[in-house]
Amino acid sequence: MKLSVIGCGYLGAVHAAAMASIGHSVVGIDVDADKIALLNSGRAPFFEPGLTELLTEALASGNLTFSTDFADAAGAEAHFVAVGTPQSKDGLGADLRYVNAAVDALLPHVAPGDVIVGKSTVPVGTAEGLAQRIDPTGAVLAWNPEFLREGFAVEDTLRPDRLVYGVGAGAERAESVLDAVYHVALDANTPKIVTGYATAELVKVSANAFLATKISFINAMAEISEVTGADVTALADAIGMDARIGRRFLNAGVGFGGGCLPKDIRAFRARAEELGVGHSVAFLEEVDAINLRRRDRVVDLTTALLDGDVTGRKVAVLGVAFKPNSDDIRDSPALDIASRLAALGANVVATDPEAIANARRMEPDLTFGTIEEALTDADIVLLLTEWKDFTGIDPVWAASLVKTPLVIDGRNALPHTQWIDAMWEYHGLGRR
Ligand code: UDX
Repeated sequence: MKLSVIGCGYLGAVHAAAMASIGHSVVGIDVDADKIALLNSGRAPFFEPGLTELLTEALASGNLTFSTDFADAAGAEAHFVAVGTPQSKDGLGADLRYVNAAVDALLPHVAPGDVIVGKSTVPVGTAEGLAQRIDPTGAVLAWNPEFLREGFAVEDTLRPDRLVYGVGAGAERAESVLDAVYHVALDANTPKIVTGYATAELVKVSANAFLATKISFINAMAEISEVTGADVTALADAIGMDARIGRRFLNAGVGFGGGCLPKDIRAFRARAEELGVGHSVAFLEEVDAINLRRRDRVVDLTTALLDGDVTGRKVAVLGVAFKPNSDDIRDSPALDIASRLAALGANVVATDPEAIANARRMEPDLTFGTIEEALTDADIVLLLTEWKDFTGIDPVWAASLVKTPLVIDGRNALPHTQWIDAMWEYHGLGRR
């Protein structure tokens, strides 16, 4: 099958390579010529485990090409729209300019019967409007949200938990084309839900809202634990054993960040307001506030542990990416905390296995170094992103480098008994 993928960011580049790897003939299209040149040479424009190998194989097989020319989408049966929907300038809502531009550029090259497949995360109601614009071309619109997690993007694309098809006019055509696209996942019994546009759009935003709520719930329990002497990790283990609750996404710490959860809950609130049902998701404001308070907590605790003044004190920051196995620093709690401590006068040295280049572009005044450079003579160590490179640090070795063996585990991810045995003063979040 011939497919086009419009937008070669985290979502589109992985989708294009994954679809080519299962035998489809795929062209990835993006307006950024540098990105396209990089992808055509088999290099990913961002760090994602397994993606370079997948790209290299797919390019060598001849199944995958990348182009800046929308005319190359002509002849494809399905055109995936996978462009970004960033937070709008006013901080509310989603900015749909890339989705609209992609559809405008694509429409002159589609043929009757082609299926345009929306993958971007959009406010509910967007697909219905796009379907009307597409209708005169004879092409059909489907909405097929994507649930991939950074760090597991290849695995999530090839083996999704479920497939959701939002369909409207031309539903049969849309479903049969999508079935052919996803035949490998369907053969492996991946569940499929066929529904309308609005439900498909909402599945994505409500899934992210639920995940954000789950994280903020446990972080709220961390706040309570901090004043009562309870241990939020034991609490999460205990409530997580109830299958109705489940242990995943109950890790308390510095909270959620990244290019999806924070912006998606804000856009969801803004859209609900527009629809006159703002009260229905008003709680997401609290979810956001709890999440941001966790960053304040780490800044305040660091200051308190350094006797009320961080000026001139050396702070080793382990991790700046918003999560491990990613070089993404968008809305990263770790980078935010590092910058705030630096702004307060601390001598921050931050380290990260993959995200330093991105972090340096965003925060040029921050100092970055190796793990050893960060730890040497540090007054305090902050673990803010739980990369294996950090959770596996030998606490005896680390103690030999620092000035004071004092650590805040912002992810409750260090083997704390080993650190305590190595004479560290250990502070987890939400536990004494
Ligand atoms: C998320 C959704 O999981 C994915 O389905 C959707 O398609 C895009 O948004 P992603 O942003 O890649 O994916 O990361 P995810 O693994 O969900 O983590 C989000 C943030 O929550 C990270 O900052 C992570 O550190 C944090 N988190 C996650 C916690 O603080 N505690 C947890 O228990 C889990």
